[in-house]
Amino acid sequence: MRLVLVGPPGAGKGTQAEYIATQLSVPKISTGDIFRANVTGGTPLGVEAKRYMDAGELVPDKVTIDMVRDRLAEPDAVDGFLLDGFPRTVPQAQALDKLLADMGTGLDLVLELVVDDDEVIRRLSGRRTCHGCGKIWHVEFDRTEVEGVCDRCGGELYQRDDDKAETIATRLEVYNRETAPLIGFYGNTGKLVGIDATGPVEDVTARALDALSSYE
Ligand code: AP5
Ligand code: ZN
Repeated sequence: MRLVLVGPPGAGKGTQAEYIATQLSVPKISTGDIFRANVTGGTPLGVEAKRYMDAGELVPDKVTIDMVRDRLAEPDAVDGFLLDGFPRTVPQAQALDKLLADMGTGLDLVLELVVDDDEVIRRLSGRRTCHGCGKIWHVEFDRTEVEGVCDRCGGELYQRDDDKAETIATRLEVYNRETAPLIGFYGNTGKLVGIDATGPVEDVTARALDALSSYE
């Protein structure tokens, strides 16, 4: 299956992507994760992306599209993928359509995670990520046995630089301006399905898998 997850920052895309990709046996491709790995590795792409990410702005379309094109050409993505965080502008969505058409294929479904701004702010301000395995945590909703340490791998949990209050506000503005128009774009294709992304993580996963099963 070729699937896109869309939703505001903090909607739970990364959290859900991990479960859904495992369930569908497809690779999870997160542009945010790829950019962060490049920032950590100090690559030229990371140096360029960091400026935008720290400000809560989008990395330019050309850079992002080229990166996704390379990733989709890898063998594990040939039979399907779950895209988390891409596309997030209409030009990116158009580029993805073209890219897939050139490969003789197309998207199956776009899953929208629907949450309001207050919940986004609550989720992002309490988010922690594991340095070791990348697992996403929340200080209020997840309990770790040793404070600040990942239960899965023992790695240290850290707060993302772009989860500061001012940057969260900018990211929400950018979402409403640049990414929300995708809902109309995909709505016109008949491939968009929206689910309520509030409530416990497992409930959201169940709703997502339910929505996917009716489209298989
Ligand atoms: P990216 O990493 O994609 O950030 P984002 O879209 O802002 O999404 P987040 O990762 O913040 O949130 P999420 O929806 O994955 O939520 P999560 O599961 O972590 O992008 C970062 C930056 O990279 C961008 O700002 C941009 O600069 C750049 N970039 C990336 N892609 C780009 C592109 N295509 N074009 C241009 N630039 C791009 O959950 C959040 C918190 O909530 C966690 O603590 C989690 O534990 C908790 N949580 C999740 N679900 C629940 C639940 N059901 N109940 C309670 N808590 C929950
Ligand atoms: Zn870990």
